[in-house]
Amino acid sequence: MIADIVLGAQYGDEGKGKVTHHLLKSGEYTHCIRFNGSNNAGHTIYHEGKKIITHSIPSGVLYDDVRCVIGPGCTLNPEQFFSELAELEENGINTKGKVFIANNCHVITGEHLLEDGKDEEIGTTRRGNGPAYRAKYGRTGVMAKDIPEFKPYLVDFYEELHGPGPKRVILCEGAQGFGLDIDWGDYPYVTSSHCTTGSAILNGIPHHWVRNVWGVAKIYETYVGKKQFQDPNEPIFERICQIGGEYGATTGRKRQIGWLDLDLLDKSLKINGITHLIFNKCDILKRIGTFKVRNGTKKTLEFTRYSHFETYLRAKYDHFEGKERVLFFSGTPNGI
Ligand code: IMP
Ligand code: MG
Repeated sequence: MIADIVLGAQYGDEGKGKVTHHLLKSGEYTHCIRFNGSNNAGHTIYHEGKKIITHSIPSGVLYDDVRCVIGPGCTLNPEQFFSELAELEENGINTKGKVFIANNCHVITGEHLLEDGKDEEIGTTRRGNGPAYRAKYGRTGVMAKDIPEFKPYLVDFYEELHGPGPKRVILCEGAQGFGLDIDWGDYPYVTSSHCTTGSAILNGIPHHWVRNVWGVAKIYETYVGKKQFQDPNEPIFERICQIGGEYGATTGRKRQIGWLDLDLLDKSLKINGITHLIFNKCDILKRIGTFKVRNGTKKTLEFTRYSHFETYLRAKYDHFEGKERVLFFSGTPNGI
């Protein structure tokens, strides 16, 4: 049995959807599993010339012969689930017999939506995600198995992973990212779930199945939410936002921009045990012509050429903590 994990190394929106889509092309995977979050996520994927955005449904739905399961670590809004299915079908994606829900996944109710809709403190996506997790941990939650409409989609996730059948090759698809993790992010400006390798394992994946952990980063950083993130004295961030099209796939909100923060990335690499590190959106910085990283809390390093910038990152991360890592620098919307 094999499990590969795709997760965000920063604040979400790093391009995880693109990486999952690319990996699934191998045809090797029997399963694609979402392990955290809900429709607070938006994974943008260019598939056969079409732009598709998935929210709760694993990206494996775009392929035949991949069982897509919304795992026990997720929360799910029933109404949104059915509208996402319908939207995929409208886009010509066959979803029949491919999408499943772990019966112990928790449900986002109308009350959760109402409460989250009033949020002014955190800048949530207002999808009810936080209140649903609070109910889960407060042991007052509603589970997927309690929703009659879910019945045709429900699976016992233990059986799905460990029951009889062929060898499982699982792609675990994370939502959000390390900087938004409930334990490791900048609390309270975080989401209400775990976004780490540990989170995938919590869904019932034995640790010794884990083969590769694909950490997805952007070559600059973006964050959406209420905290002040973008330096208002750096007009270049506005240009990056415009050229990079940095608007949320779920809420359309403008993302705040910052330089790549190597301290956050180091933590993310170590805590997640990232084996494959991807830097996305390199083409945007090439167009901007300025290449900076934050190294240490206040210091910024500046490179005059993109090639020097990439060489610096390779020197730092090719062998990180005594282990070899595979690095990718990607700049196109399709593939790696
Ligand atoms: P919540 O997850 O909706 O409660 O939002 C909490 C914080 O996480 C807010 O700052 C959101 O903007 C951020 N967030 C949640 N999901 C995503 C995502 O998929 N991409 C980027 N930011 C997200
Ligand atoms: Mg996103």
